[in-house]
Amino acid sequence: MLVTPPTARAVKSPRGNTRVVPTGVERPYGREEIIVSKTDTKGVIRYANDIFLRVAGYDESEIVGMPHNVIRHPGMPRAVFQVMWDTISSGEELFAYVVNLAADGGHYWVLAHVTPTFDATGTIVGYHSNRRWVEPEIRDEVEAVYARVLHAEAAQQKTSDAIAAGVAALVDELASAGHTLDTWVWAMAGREMAGRQMAGAR
Ligand SMILES: Cc1cc2nc3c(=O)[nH]c(=O)nc-3n(C[C@H](O)[C@H](O)[C@H](O)COP(=O)(O)O)c2cc1C
Repeated sequence: MLVTPPTARAVKSPRGNTRVVPTGVERPYGREEIIVSKTDTKGVIRYANDIFLRVAGYDESEIVGMPHNVIRHPGMPRAVFQVMWDTISSGEELFAYVVNLAADGGHYWVLAHVTPTFDATGTIVGYHSNRRWVEPEIRDEVEAVYARVLHAEAAQQKTSDAIAAGVAALVDELASAGHTLDTWVWAMAGREMAGRQMAGAR
C-alpha cells in the first residue's frame, strides 16, 4: 500500500520566500564523515549534526523545525521518497542514494541509511538518517536511472499519478536487471566498499 509522505508539499527556503535554485556545483565532504539528521514522525527535522549543517549550509536554528524536504533536490524522483516512507513507516530500514540541495544551490550525493526509532512499546516515535559519501562513478549510474524515473513522473499531470508512474518505472528498470531497490543499492554499495579497500591496499 502506498502511504502519502507527510511532507508532500512545496517548501520554501528557510531564508525567505525564494526557492533555492540548483547551481550544479558539488559540495564536497569527507569519505569518513557521517551526515546525520533525526526527524519526528512527520519528517520534521529535530536534530542535525555539525557535518549536516556544514554540508547543507544551514545554521541549526534555520533547519531544526523545518520539514526534511527543505533540502530536496529537483533531481530526486518522488518515487524514491515514496518507497522510503512506505518502508520506514512500516517499521523497516531503508538504504537509498539521494542527491540533496544545499542552501547555496550546491548539491551533494549521499548513501542514506534511514531507520525508524521506536519507544518502549514498539511505537514509531521518529526517524533517523545516517549518510555517507558516494563515489562519482556510482553517482553517475544512479543519476541515469533517476533521470529515467523523473521522465516517467514528468509525463503525468497529477502528483499521485506521477508517483505511481515513477515507482513503476523504478521497479521495472531495476527488475529488468534482476534487482529490487534494496539489492540494487547493495550491489552498488558493495562495489564502493570494494573500490575503497583496493585503494587502501595500494
Ligand atoms: C529521517 C529522514 C531523513 C530524510 N532525509 C532526506 C534528505 O536527506 N533529503 C530529502 O530530500 N528528503 C529527505 N527525507 C524525505 C523528506 O521527508 C521528503 O519526503 C522528501 O524530501 C520529498 O518531499 P516532497 O514529497 O515534499 O517533495 C527524509 C525523511 C526522513 C524521515
